Amino acid sequence: MRILITGGAGFIGSNYIHYILEQYPKDTIINLDALTYAGNLENLKDIEDNPNYKFVHGDIMDGVLVNELMKDVDTVVHFAAESHVDRSILDSAAFVRTNVNGTLILLEAAKNNGNVRFHHISTDEVYGSLDKDAPPFNETTPYDPHSPYSASKASSDHLVRAYFHTHRLPVTISNCSNNYGPYQFPEKLVPLFVLNLIDDVKIPVYGTGENIRDWLHVSDHCKAIDKIVREGTIGETYCIGGDAEKTNMEITNIILNAMGKGEEMIEHVEDRKGHDKRYAINFDKIKNELSWEPDVTFEEGITETIEWYKNNEKWWRNIKSGEYQEYYNKQYGNK
Ligand code: NAD
Ligand code: DAU
Repeated sequence: MRILITGGAGFIGSNYIHYILEQYPKDTIINLDALTYAGNLENLKDIEDNPNYKFVHGDIMDGVLVNELMKDVDTVVHFAAESHVDRSILDSAAFVRTNVNGTLILLEAAKNNGNVRFHHISTDEVYGSLDKDAPPFNETTPYDPHSPYSASKASSDHLVRAYFHTHRLPVTISNCSNNYGPYQFPEKLVPLFVLNLIDDVKIPVYGTGENIRDWLHVSDHCKAIDKIVREGTIGETYCIGGDAEKTNMEITNIILNAMGKGEEMIEHVEDRKGHDKRYAINFDKIKNELSWEPDVTFEEGITETIEWYKNNEKWWRNIKSGEYQEYYNKQYGNK
């Protein structure tokens, strides 16, 4: 395959690039990434000289560039997005720009270059929030996004489906639950808490911490995406989950215990606006049709993830100090 990966310098995209280069030595990858605050080429340092890999610094909003790149590939795997819910509450515009308009530009270019195979990475948050005892989301759950982030992702999902129905663009979509693992930007719950605790800083639990998320190790997400890209049915959506529903307090206590810290490190802070109560995923479809299910249990995954952050201090200290962006500004100019 000749794959255009968007957002490959982010958390999941960089894990995916590592996975593909390891599994498929004949595949080639173009990684198109704007290097926003969340993009970090350090995530890809070890493969930057791989002859099957090329980085292109650019924005998915650049229609001319995207159109050119599309000529050299047969598949797109679209990760690029503004991904953090709290940021979307503070400033929603960038979310519509990249997640909605940027997706549209990619779809147009895929259509205009011979209907390039297009896989769209989406989220379980498009389905809204579940009550405690409600059945988990599946592919037929009606859309009900609550945050500007999830509304923008829902819009992009609709556009992707519209290009399938209108133009027969060969698309698939995956809606996944909360990922954790190496290279996650330390604004998200798991790395934020782990890194605070390494530095003996308190960890901010929103509200009472009773909200529930389903957790999936990023390596399992990458395997699921790869299955869908190679074996999925065109036009279909696949829900991906980890079978690991946990309240935020449960996650907090697991991390505290694993790091040998006590409850005095918890600080209950003001709740997130419009905080969704619960996400949960029924992943029977991908399990039955594509024989995918998670390999990594939460207990194994979180232990390994904490170790990874402990062993990669330079990586996250660079992010926290802002040094990683100074380097890009020098290399590519201020964006
Ligand atoms: P991330 O924020 O870590 O990375 C996003 C990447 O996209 C960055 O490298 C950034 O530089 C790039 N980017 C942003 N705007 C761009 C633009 N206009 N042009 C080109 N590149 C741009 O995100 P992530 O957590 O890796 O998430 C990747 C995808 O997976 C997103 O679409 C997200 O909605 C989806 N997703 C994430 C999770 C999760 O738990 N993190 C779960 C389900 C789905
Ligand atoms: O469900 C999939 C989604 O998971 C992805 O689409 C998003 O891109 C990804 O960011 C993630 O969204 P969440 O909002 O669930 O993730 P976050 O890590 O921001 O928060 C997880 C839970 O922890 C949520 O209930 C809010 C809470 N939280 C978060 C932070 C950052 C806290 O209590 N304290 C915090 O400091």
